Amino acid sequence: MTPSSTSGSVDARRELISGLLAARAHTSPKYLYDRLGSRLFEAITELPEYYPTRTEAAIFDAHLIDIARAIGDIDTLVDLGAGNCAKALRLIPALCPARYVAVDISADFLGDAIAEVQRQFPTLEVNGLGLDFSASPELPDGSLRGRPVFFYPGSSIGNFTPAQAQHFLAEVRRQAAGGGLLIGVDLIKPLDVLEPAYDDALGVTAAFNLNLLRHLNHLIGADFNPREWRHVAFFNRTDSRIEMHLEARDALTVSWPGGERRFAAGERLHTENSYKYSVESFSALLRDAGFERSEHWVDERGWFAVFWAQG
Ligand code: AVJ
Repeated sequence: MTPSSTSGSVDARRELISGLLAARAHTSPKYLYDRLGSRLFEAITELPEYYPTRTEAAIFDAHLIDIARAIGDIDTLVDLGAGNCAKALRLIPALCPARYVAVDISADFLGDAIAEVQRQFPTLEVNGLGLDFSASPELPDGSLRGRPVFFYPGSSIGNFTPAQAQHFLAEVRRQAAGGGLLIGVDLIKPLDVLEPAYDDALGVTAAFNLNLLRHLNHLIGADFNPREWRHVAFFNRTDSRIEMHLEARDALTVSWPGGERRFAAGERLHTENSYKYSVESFSALLRDAGFERSEHWVDERGWFAVFWAQG
């Protein structure tokens, strides 16, 4: 433990405070995932309104053999944002990698998950890496060998702006030489499907968003009161993204050691963007990132796509 009363790193603290003080207050979506936040996200994936997780799983179920055939022989499977490793567990028997590297920002979550992978696949070489790859997917030397395949499911790529996504994908391509990238991408669809997925009837997504405030209190010693805030989510068509915000119900001031921020009634803290693509726009993004060839599979409603991009 640090001697201070809070437990964020100096860098995280600086990043968070500068976002809170910006003209339009904002925080990185990675701060949604403390222990409780990760559990709430798991609960979201079971909501009837939240179609991405089960739609992606259905695509993998329906096309696993084709996908494995497209990928061919692989050496290392690198799971970006592995979490509970559930998605990789279904992929491993079809892809038969020699080595599995699970990467996740929350390393404590990872320990149990990789033990389970090892239990189910005793001859697989299993490694866990606790690192925040959102800045760069660059892995430590020795993590990759042979034909590495990066696995980036769940449409997590949607948290990046398209420009950031292109940069990220180009970095993945550089590391995936000889292998490639298997990635899940959420697609543009009617508003009456899109918006409830981020504003569900039970309020689980609202709890997930509001929990960020508790996490911020812990990280920077702030005094956010979740009861004073309201969950807001909507599709921004111009930018093709779902935006999540927390909106101050009344005028209020949030304080932390060394600073404060006043919010007017109705003023918002922008907590997440979740970009939605068309098959064409994401294919173009992959090309712009240097992947010359890609294939994709979609569900019958055209709500979600899985792309294989050869490195
Ligand atoms: C984990 C980034 C893919 O954008 O759908 C779910 C996060 N936010 N509900 C998404 C999320 C609100 C999710 N990703």
